[in-house]
Amino acid sequence: MAKAQTSFVCQSCAARSSKWSGRCETCGEWNTIVEEKPLAAGPSGKTLGKSRGRAVALSDLSTKEAPPPRTASKLDELDRVLGGGLVPASAVLVGGDPGIGKSTLLLQAAAAFANAGLSVVYISGEEASAQVRLRAQRLGLQDAPVKLATETNLRDILTTLDETRPDLAIVDSIQTMWADNVDSAPGSVSQVRAAAHELTTFAKRRGSAVIMVGHVTKDGQIAGPRVVEHMVDTVLYFEGERGHQFRILRSVKNRFGPADEIGVFEMTGGGLAEVSNPSALFLQERGQPAPGSVVFSGIEGTRPVLVEFQALVSPSPHSQPRRSVVGWDGSRLAMILAVLESRCGIPFAGLDVYLNVAGGMRVNEPAADLAVAAALLSAREDSGLPPETVVFGEISLSGALRPVSQTENRLKEARKLGFSTAILPSGGKAAGNGGMALSQMGDLASFVGEVFGA
Ligand code: TYD
Ligand code: MG
Repeated sequence: MAKAQTSFVCQSCAARSSKWSGRCETCGEWNTIVEEKPLAAGPSGKTLGKSRGRAVALSDLSTKEAPPPRTASKLDELDRVLGGGLVPASAVLVGGDPGIGKSTLLLQAAAAFANAGLSVVYISGEEASAQVRLRAQRLGLQDAPVKLATETNLRDILTTLDETRPDLAIVDSIQTMWADNVDSAPGSVSQVRAAAHELTTFAKRRGSAVIMVGHVTKDGQIAGPRVVEHMVDTVLYFEGERGHQFRILRSVKNRFGPADEIGVFEMTGGGLAEVSNPSALFLQERGQPAPGSVVFSGIEGTRPVLVEFQALVSPSPHSQPRRSVVGWDGSRLAMILAVLESRCGIPFAGLDVYLNVAGGMRVNEPAADLAVAAALLSAREDSGLPPETVVFGEISLSGALRPVSQTENRLKEARKLGFSTAILPSGGKAAGNGGMALSQMGDLASFVGEVFGA
């Protein structure tokens, strides 16, 4: 029989090598390489369990089993992102920058779920009990029936959870957890992976829901992203600009509901307040229509949301002009600038371009292409769009405008907020106009001609 070979595996990117080194040559991460031994017995079956997994025909599965009962926290913005409430035995990861408000959100969620009838344990590895209590006082939640523990040793935590069997355990944060059988520092990929694995297994075995907090690394990923994200059922990101009071909870993966759903909160002196009408909030800073400002009617998950794109175009003193973008994809901006140059003959060479989404919102939809192009043109020509106008549509590399989904919902939301005209691609399914005057165009060149007379 061949000798079992050990190999060294990077815990971040799973690359294998034959020797240990301090830095993974594939992904460049430090201290992520761990020795792994293959299973003692191969698939000869000798030492494997006797009760092999039986396969059952899909049609034979009982349909009597009801879908898992969800518990709503009554924080509507949170429930929507979870897909309608918390599912028992589910593992949820909430990621976000340090200081964005994760602990605040989860303490409020703990109190809300406890008031909805769940037994809740909040395990803080970052703050002392007194600090958590102080925060609870500030949030007016000091009397909520939530149990509190301050612990970082994973074994102790699992023992406690096994005894108390809560409906929901909140672990803040996964980076402070420490498994004593893993030989590396807390916060390292192997520790984070071990903690996430143990907690997820606990959730599945005991039927408790587990919510884990994860800090995001500098490059915007939860430490050991691939190893943690695939283990859990739901991944939520808590985002927002530090200087703004708005916070957005976004589901990027959800086994029990739609992904890409958002919940909007506002950070106040007394904690996070729900924002049930985000469009009104994102547009409230908008004054008179100014050059470079364009309102985009977007869809976030199941909800239409109106946001304002702001652009500034100015002569560049640099040989390499600046392209700066906040709240949107930088490479998508480059693509739109290229289409404007080569299909419409509008050069941006020698010009600095700044693009910003107002209110600290992040837009991911390609449907915003036309709004971005409109903002760039409006800034460049120093002329505003007609007042009370919303814009949406996708731009293809040929310069053609492509219709986007949910046109009618986008129009209705705009109408509700007092807009009267929409600029959008022609074609697509002819739905109602939502009470708006429509200005439909087939390609970017005709948009430039009609709106800016160029
Ligand atoms: P926190 O929840 O500690 O962030 P995280 O757990 O993501 O690191 O939130 C920290 C920030 O929130 C801090 O800068 C203060 C602010 N804050 C408020 O503005 N109002 C409040 O009621 C609370 C509790 C915090
Ligand atoms: Mg915290």
